[in-house]
Amino acid sequence: MKATEAQIEIRCTINSEAQTLHAYPMERLLDVLRSQLHLTGTKEGCGEGECGACTVFINGEVVNSCLLPVAQVEGADIKTIEGVANDEQLHAVQQAFIECGGAQCGICTPGMVMAAVNLLDRNPNPTEADIRNGLAGNLCRCTGYMKIFESVVRAKQMR
Ligand code: FES
Ligand code: FES
Repeated sequence: MKATEAQIEIRCTINSEAQTLHAYPMERLLDVLRSQLHLTGTKEGCGEGECGACTVFINGEVVNSCLLPVAQVEGADIKTIEGVANDEQLHAVQQAFIECGGAQCGICTPGMVMAAVNLLDRNPNPTEADIRNGLAGNLCRCTGYMKIFESVVRAKQMR
């Protein structure tokens, strides 16, 4: 980052709340979420767009927040893992991850949950292949993926 680069003001909506951010234009959305807004549910795995741990929704689309300069979210509607539950009620995907043991160390879990929520929003009755494709952008070092897969199947049944 150049020393001369000035911070800018960015207005957006995060988890249904209007926010005004002050950040350097090329700061990563991931860092602004975690350090400025303390939304630390969004994780950093690779930092290179490979693992999906940093997944958020921007205007309903799945985005790797480690790759996105915060200047690009002006006017955007952002949802993070903190916005997935409905008040005190966990999302079906979150509940299913608990019931099926879909989380171990937890680093991949927020991104996996976001990917699964997006999949079920787009396709409420996915096939096994659809589920595998829906999770293909997210890596996990711990689970061997079967319990995550079972969690999404369970969430589909719960909905
Ligand atoms: S931390 Fe963003 S894709 Fe891995
Ligand atoms: S639970 Fe550890 S990386 Fe997935």
